[in-house]
Amino acid sequence: MEPHAPNRAPSPRPPWTTGPRGLGSFPMTDPSLDVTRAAYNDVATLYAELFRDSVDGRPLDRALVTAFAELVRAADAGPVADLGCGPGGVTARLAGLGVTAFGVDASPAMIELARQAYPHLRFDEGSMLALDIADDTLGGVLAWYSIIHTPPEELPVIFAEFARVLAPGGHLLLGFFTTDGDSPHPAEPFDHKVSLAYRLSIDHVADLARKAGLVEIARLRREPGENERFQHGRLLARRPTEP
Ligand SMILES: C[S@@+](CC[C@H](N)C(=O)[O-])C[C@H]1O[C@@H](n2cnc3c(N)ncnc32)[C@H](O)[C@@H]1O
Repeated sequence: MEPHAPNRAPSPRPPWTTGPRGLGSFPMTDPSLDVTRAAYNDVATLYAELFRDSVDGRPLDRALVTAFAELVRAADAGPVADLGCGPGGVTARLAGLGVTAFGVDASPAMIELARQAYPHLRFDEGSMLALDIADDTLGGVLAWYSIIHTPPEELPVIFAEFARVLAPGGHLLLGFFTTDGDSPHPAEPFDHKVSLAYRLSIDHVADLARKAGLVEIARLRREPGENERFQHGRLLARRPTEP
C-alpha cells in the first residue's frame, strides 16, 4: 500500500456529490497543487499534532467560525464543506455547532488522519480547483488557510468553484495571511514552513469573491499574535438569494 493510501473505502456518496466526476478523478496534475499535496502528505502527522483544530485558543477566530455556523443554520440552505480541511478539527467543530459538515482536502494523508480522528464525519480527497460537489447545493463553504498555496492567477478558478457549489443564501468564510494594509500588491509570496504560500490583500480577496458573484458581509484584519509573522485576514460573504 502507498504510504498515505486510505485504508478504508469512503462511505456511500452523499447527495451533494456530482457522481460522474467521482472521487480521485478531478484534475490531479496541476503542478503547483502536486507540490502542495506532497508537502502536506509529508508533514500531516506533525501538523495534526500541532494544529488539529486551528481556531482552538483563538477567541476571535472561534467567534467567527461560530457566527458562520449560526448564519448557515439560520439560512438552512444545505451542508457545509470545509475545503482544505487538513486534519479535520475545524470540520468537527462545525459539526459540534449543529451544522452538517464534511471535509475535503487535496492531501490523502490529511484525509486519512481526519477519518481516523472523526469516523462519524465524511472526509473526501479533492481539489478546490475542481470540486466533486454539485451546483447550488451547499449552505456554507469554509476555506481556512487553504487558498494560501494557490498561485494567485489560479484563485479566480477556486472562487468560481465556491460560487458554483454554494446554494442561493449560502455563506463563505475565508481565513488567510494578509498583506499590510497599505501594500499595493494583491498577493505576496512567502516562505511558508510547509510549501510556498501567498499573503493576500483583503481588498483583493473581497474582489475575487465579488467577481464570482458573492456579496461581502464582513471582513477582519487581525494583528500577528505571539510567534506569528503576519497579519491575518478574514472574509465573510454570501451568495445572494436573487441572481
Ligand atoms: C494550512 S493547511 C490548513 C488546514 C485546515 N484548514 C486548518 O485550518 O488547520 C492547508 C490545507 O489546504 C490543503 N489544500 C491546499 N490547496 C488545496 C486545494 N487546491 N484543494 C484542496 N485542498 C488544498 C492542504 O492539503 C492543507 O491540508
